[in-house]
Order: sequence, then structure tokens, then C-alpha cells
Amino acid sequence: MNLSSKSATFLCFLLLPLQGAEEKSVTFSKDIAPIIFENCTTCHRPGQIGPFSLTDYKTVKRRAKQIVEVTEDRTMPPWHADPGDVKFSNDRSLSPEQIKLLADWVTADRPEGDPAETPPFPEFHDKWQIGEPDQIATMAEPFTVPAEGRDIYRSFVIPMNLEEDRWVEAIEFLPGAPEVVHHILYFLDTSGKARRYDAEDKRPGFNGLKSTAGFGYIGGWDVGTEPTELPHGLRFFIPKGSDLIVQIHYHPNGKELTDQSSVGFHYSDKPTARPWTIIQVPPHFGQLQGIDIKAGEKEHIEEASFILPEDCETFAVNAHAHHLAKRMELTATLPDGKIIRLLRTTRWDFRWQEDYSFEKPVKLPAGTRLDMLISYDNSASNPNNPTNPPKDVRWGPQTTDEMGSITLAAMFDTKDQKNATHDALRVFLVNQLIDRLWEGRADVLGSKNKQLQDSVQMLKALDSDKDSKLSPKERIPAILFIQGSGFLKRFGAIGFE
Ligand code: HEC
Repeated sequence: MNLSSKSATFLCFLLLPLQGAEEKSVTFSKDIAPIIFENCTTCHRPGQIGPFSLTDYKTVKRRAKQIVEVTEDRTMPPWHADPGDVKFSNDRSLSPEQIKLLADWVTADRPEGDPAETPPFPEFHDKWQIGEPDQIATMAEPFTVPAEGRDIYRSFVIPMNLEEDRWVEAIEFLPGAPEVVHHILYFLDTSGKARRYDAEDKRPGFNGLKSTAGFGYIGGWDVGTEPTELPHGLRFFIPKGSDLIVQIHYHPNGKELTDQSSVGFHYSDKPTARPWTIIQVPPHFGQLQGIDIKAGEKEHIEEASFILPEDCETFAVNAHAHHLAKRMELTATLPDGKIIRLLRTTRWDFRWQEDYSFEKPVKLPAGTRLDMLISYDNSASNPNNPTNPPKDVRWGPQTTDEMGSITLAAMFDTKDQKNATHDALRVFLVNQLIDRLWEGRADVLGSKNKQLQDSVQMLKALDSDKDSKLSPKERIPAILFIQGSGFLKRFGAIGFE
């Protein structure tokens, strides 16, 4: 027997566990706690939306295997934008190194290490995440959400009692019954119309599907979104004497609950640094897009394009659709031909309708074309399909209906640029209406609207060369005609004032 070779083998055996031990020196205190505290505990602590707490060695150790699974397949932390051309400042995803550390820690049987090395637990505000607001607007009365039934849209009027105009730098929403509050939109009214609607309705608030025409719009909140803290010195404007209208979408969840939500406002002494607004493609969540998805359709594509009439800089993007959407994309094609992908998600998840903030604002010169694409899956094999067997789905407010648009937040150098952008968006909407009238889509237009039905005849008369379509030239009088018809009054604001 060759002794030296045997001892060599023996040495190797000795070395192996030694080497391993060095690799496995990953400990909770030194390596894992910083990852968890930084990336998970915002949601996974008592009172937050995570279904369990991840706040110390014991709670993390207990879930360790599952944590490795959900971080490796990237379901946690929730983040649905694919990596692309533009970096996001609020990107929650973990780095490959962090994901590997979590896996190595579990392989090493989850050692705690030296508790003295554990970083301090981050400080959180318990109620208002971004601190005590300057003003809190709370629904005057609680609203009861039944255990079952269709989704409810309800608008609540809250007088702000402001004696002077105010600029708002941050808004935080505090749901009274987080289990059933799905999303909300904020509006402002100085005309008294919202108060009248409220007085006419016996129950608290009024029907949230009533037109918001005439109300100012200042954004909203969705499950999974963070409080709105405006970047780049931007502010929302609230005129004195405004009533706040909080339009809430409730989704009954099997238990009767009462909701009395609050909105916190952080005011600023400074006006907005620049004019800004939102650019939604297509506008009004695609209400006039003509969405019609047949039962069983596996890949139904909706597309819309909008050309920017003025220079702007976009600083955030948000996508909205219901359960059938799978892939959503927004690209910008600049006048020089350069293409920038502003957002792409191939894992759309209805529960996470968040704002994706760009690390650096993206300059979009006048003439830039924005192309939006949404792919919907209305087949039985889509696990998110709310209806089984699938049914035909069109645009509508219920979560079993569909919607779809992608929205940019954009700032300008001048107010005129912003107004011109709003005007172009209104023309976009008018063009969509002309297309739907041309197709005879009574479902989109409200079949009872006599004025709109008569307009169809009018449009057909404008087809002077009788080729059964409206050429760009024939469209010009059509656009003027629809603009003059007062049709746009049926819609709410197209952007921020
Ligand atoms: C923005 C909030 C948020 C953050 C940040 C977050 N989670 Fe979650 N987590 C949730 C919610 C909400 C759920 C419930 C399931 C769902 O809605 O997807 C969940 C579920 C889970 C689950 C259970 C998954 C299952 O399939 O049942 C695990 C495990 C988990 N999270 C681990 C983590 C870890 C680890 C991190 C950090 C690396 C993290 N989460 C960060 C909100 C969050």
C-alpha cells in the first residue's frame, strides 16, 4: 500500500469540511439580517400587508426555506418591471449576491452567529409611514362594505376648510379597512357639485361611477403602492375652499367590514418647481379603446400610440389593467429614431399596481412617439382569469371587466407646453370616439345616447370619397364636429391642473 497517497486522500477529506466551513460562515447576524431588514421588513412586520413578520432571527429561521424559494423565483420582494433601458430608483429586487447569501445560509443550516453583530432594527412610523401629516382628511362617517356582491365604487366628500391655496409635497392614504379597499382616486371640487351629489344620496358619499367631469384630479393610491412623495420639487395644487373627493374601489372579501379611511397631506411653502401632469396612453384607462376580448383568446393584443406635441421629461411610469393582462409595455421612439423602453412587465400582477420611478428623468423631445402594448390572456389556462369558464370581456369598472393603459408622469418648462399636451390628449380621445362611432360600437358609447347615435350619420356623410373610411383630411371636420358636440364634458380631467 502506498502510504503517501493514502495520507494525501486523508488530508483531502480533512480539507473538505474545513473549506466548506469557511464558505458556510454566512450568519444571520452578519449577513442575513441586513438583507431582511432592508428589503422585507417594510411589509413583513405587525400591522403591514405581509402575511407574517420577518423581524428577528426566530421568525426568519422558521421561514428560511420558503424565503429561499420566493427570492430565487423572484416573487419576493414584489417587483414586476423587467430590467430594461432605464433604471428605477424604487427597484425592490435583490441582487444575485443577496439571493445566493440567503441560499447559502439555509445550506449552512441557518446559523445565528454573534447576536451583537445584528444591525439595529430599522425605525418605522407605526401609523403614517412618512411622518405626521400637516392635515388629515377623514371620511365623515364609516361606510359598510357587505360580505359579498359586486365591486363597489363610492365617492366621499371631505371639506378641506382651506382659507388659502396650498401646495402639497406628499400625500399618504390610510385605509380604514385595508382588507377591502382596493384602490382610490383623489379629486378636488370647488363648485359644490360633489356636496350636492352627497346630499342627494341617503348613504354616506355618492355613487363612485358618477362622472368626475369638472373635478380636479390629484392622483390616487393602489394596494401595494407607497405614499406619494413628489420628486424634483414638484407639488400638487389645492385651491382654497376645495372639497376633497376620495373615490374608493371596494372589493368585498367574504366578511362584512366598515371603512373610514383617512388622507394625510404634507404642505409646502414653495410652489411647484415646474409644471407637470400625467400622460395616459390611451386616456381614461382605455375607455374608448374598444377592448373586446373573446372567451378563450390566449393572446389578445391592444395597442395605442400617442405623439408628444411638446418637449417633456418623464420621471415615473405606472401601468393599470385588471386580471387578464400578462405583458405590458411602453416604448418611446424619439424623433432621431432612438428607441427607449420605459416599462415592460411580462409578469403583470393585478395586486401590485405601483409607480415605477426613474432614477434619472428621461428627456422626451416633441415628436416622440409613445407606443403602448398590452397582451391579455382570456383562456381557461390563465390561473388569474376571474371567470371560469372564460366569458367575453369588454371595458368596464368591475374587476371581471378589463381596462388598460400606461401612464407617464412628466414635467415641462412652461405651462403652455403642458396645456398643449393636454389638448393633444383630448384630440386623441376624440379620435378614439370617431373610430368607435365608425365601427358602431354602441356598447362603448352608451346605446341610449341619442346624440351619439345621430353623430354616426354625420360622420358617414363626411366620407366624401365614399371609400368607407375617414382619410386624415376627412377627419379634420369630424374632430371639430365631435369637439363641438360637448362630448368631452362627459369625461373627467385628462391630467393635473
Ligand atoms: C412591498 C411589500 C413586501 C415586501 C417588501 C416583501 N414582501 Fe413578502 N409578501 C408580501 C405580501 C403582500 C405577501 C402575500 C402574498 C402576496 O400578496 O403575494 C407576501 C408573501 C411572502 C411569502 C409567502 C409566499 C407564499 O407563496 O405564500 C414569503 C416567504 C415572503 N413574502 C418573503 C419575503 C421576503 C424574504 C422579502 C424580502 C426579501 C419580502 N417577502 C418582501 C409583501 C411584501
